[in-house]
Amino acid sequence: MTTDNLAAFDGLTDSYNRRIDYLRISITDRCNLKCIYCMPEKGLKHFKQSEILTTAEIIRIVRIACKYGVRKVRLTGGEPLLRNDIVQLLSGIKSAGIQDLSITTNAQRLAGMAKALKKAGLDRVNISLDTLLEDRYRDITRGGEIDLVWEAIAEAERAGLSPVKINVVPVRGVNDDEISAFAAMTLKKDVHIRFIEFMPIGNNGAWKPDAYLSKDEIMARVTSAGKLIRLPFKGGGPSRNYRIEGAAGMIGFISAISNCFCSSCNRLRLTAIGKLRPCLFSEITVDLKTPLRNGASDEELEALYRSAVLSKPASHTLRDGSLGHPSLSPMSQIGG
Ligand code: 5AD
Ligand code: SF4
Repeated sequence: MTTDNLAAFDGLTDSYNRRIDYLRISITDRCNLKCIYCMPEKGLKHFKQSEILTTAEIIRIVRIACKYGVRKVRLTGGEPLLRNDIVQLLSGIKSAGIQDLSITTNAQRLAGMAKALKKAGLDRVNISLDTLLEDRYRDITRGGEIDLVWEAIAEAERAGLSPVKINVVPVRGVNDDEISAFAAMTLKKDVHIRFIEFMPIGNNGAWKPDAYLSKDEIMARVTSAGKLIRLPFKGGGPSRNYRIEGAAGMIGFISAISNCFCSSCNRLRLTAIGKLRPCLFSEITVDLKTPLRNGASDEELEALYRSAVLSKPASHTLRDGSLGHPSLSPMSQIGG
């Protein structure tokens, strides 16, 4: 591709005509918590440190993704704020040409870092918070401190990392009695609560079909906090957004299972050990780390990047019968 062609180029499309402009990067598989829906109680075997992509390797891959139209990057984990090069990573990624840079974090370490992260180029944060109750938070996360999350939300807002989005995974019998309390949080405060359907990912022992609540069921409980107004669909994201009449904040629903959003999927994932993963629900991956460490040229890496985009499947197959069989890699290794 010549430089002239590149200027007019607005992104690579996959075999199903979906423009891939969003890269989610898991920068570590480690986490300082072990949420019950994500990790088994005894924890997971971690990748060796030497297997994890370095700052320079991640930035090199982001440059290639940028060349092929990626404009939006989200850093995930595990817990992304466990990496001590997070500031360098953010500024390197931002200066590679990324316009929208965000992280998903459990916020246990965020409060003291929010300003520095913003300065390094971070635009927004998503915070995982599945309960408003202190003891229950400790139980769900197996040891987390909810006060640190409240401090982090306040600091993130002060630093301009807003609107803060809060990820809630409703699990029946665990926190489904708090759905309307989360919805009510949006009445006075400009937060964005995102209810994410519990997905059968990883062998964490918590998944069972009965524990799953569909978007419709979650929504029915939300309406007890007020009437929901549908907001116009924005961007290629999977969230369907609403506002309770007169509320300051928003409520989103991410329903991978009941309303599959595959046909508008715009994303590619990069795992902590350098594998491009075209679909969260498919084990198909394209290894970039090995060629990268064997001295591959940019052209060779670009060809691998294009092949990953082209191998993106049309859709996942979670709906039909596989709900009872969690068999995928854990979320902390793929990035949520
Ligand atoms: N189902 C749905 N969401 C999950 N996450 C982790 N595991 C699951 C699961 N089994 C999401 C949470 C968290 C993010 C890091 O990953 O929303 O916020
Ligand atoms: Fe860690 Fe996030 Fe998984 Fe919880 S959901 S164990 S915070 S990676």
